[in-house]
Amino acid sequence: MMSADVKCPSSLPPKWTIRSASLVDLDSMVEIGLAAMPLDPQWHYRFPYRHEYPEETRKFTRLRYKTFLENENSQWQVMLAEALDVERLNRSKPVAFAIWETLNSVQGGNREAQSEVPNQAAALWPKGNVREHAYGSRRDGDAKRIHAWSETMSKSKKSLFDHRYGSKHFHLQILATHPSYQRRGAGASLCSWGIKLAERRAMTITVFASPMGELLYEHLGFRSVALVTVKADDDDESVTLAAMVYRPRRPTIPRLKRLLSFEAADPRMLGPRHATVVIQS
Ligand SMILES: CC(C)(COP(=O)(O)OP(=O)(O)OC[C@H]1O[C@@H](n2cnc3c(N)ncnc32)[C@H](O)[C@@H]1OP(=O)(O)O)[C@@H](O)C(=O)NCCC(=O)NCCS
Repeated sequence: MMSADVKCPSSLPPKWTIRSASLVDLDSMVEIGLAAMPLDPQWHYRFPYRHEYPEETRKFTRLRYKTFLENENSQWQVMLAEALDVERLNRSKPVAFAIWETLNSVQGGNREAQSEVPNQAAALWPKGNVREHAYGSRRDGDAKRIHAWSETMSKSKKSLFDHRYGSKHFHLQILATHPSYQRRGAGASLCSWGIKLAERRAMTITVFASPMGELLYEHLGFRSVALVTVKADDDDESVTLAAMVYRPRRPTIPRLKRLLSFEAADPRMLGPRHATVVIQS
């Protein structure tokens, strides 16, 4: 598990190892997520009481990440970026992670399995009483906002991404880098893993970007296609995210050969399209 006072050696930029995560990485992911996610405004919006109930935030974050790692519908791919920890005999240590919904690309298009998941809330919370987990029993969150978030994100994903790209896209669900390691390329390396996969399979990548995420995705060649605002009824506060896409270039034969030999892909896009859609629940 990563300790809270983890320091990034500053003399040399770290080299990232990107690998699949498994359940043994759960504790590390929870530490990274709890340190990084409060930098994203939607976290405070949904969990305004997290300072009063930090153990609830930890418990439900852990349950949620565990669901991704258990991956019962083969829907998720969790990837880690590890850095060499020179202070600990060069042992590797996870410092960032990405959670991808890759069912369409990896499994060759299983839309029936996806449609068994009624909405994002059900996909993201542990089996059993989803409503109780999502809206009732966690005291660190605002139930109305959590509900508005789940509804809006689910509707927006369907209308902006699923209907448009069908089985030809995969979705970046969560990206987080531990604050001690940010601005060193870990987030970009994790995205590059997805971009290479997208290029090889001619898939579009979709994401709802936080303000920090938007800077990274723009840097990598993603384009904003809409803005999505989450606002509960009778609530003054709201959060807005950018719906962004990365579209693979049309492969030429030489390029196809390069991609098939797993060389790095050029992250430029085909024809960006801009539109602004504000969706409220
Ligand atoms: C978004 C996040 C994952 C980026 O991770 P990271 O490992 O720091 O990103 P990288 O170091 O790979 O950034 C690569 C490039 O993206 C851009 N970028 C990333 N973070 C930036 C920031 N805070 N300000 C300005 N540019 C930024 C820069 O161009 C950067 O290159 P540079 O450092 O050479 O200028 C990280 O800030 C984070 O965990 N934030 C909190 C959670 C969150 O918002 N997640 C995204 C959800 S969509």
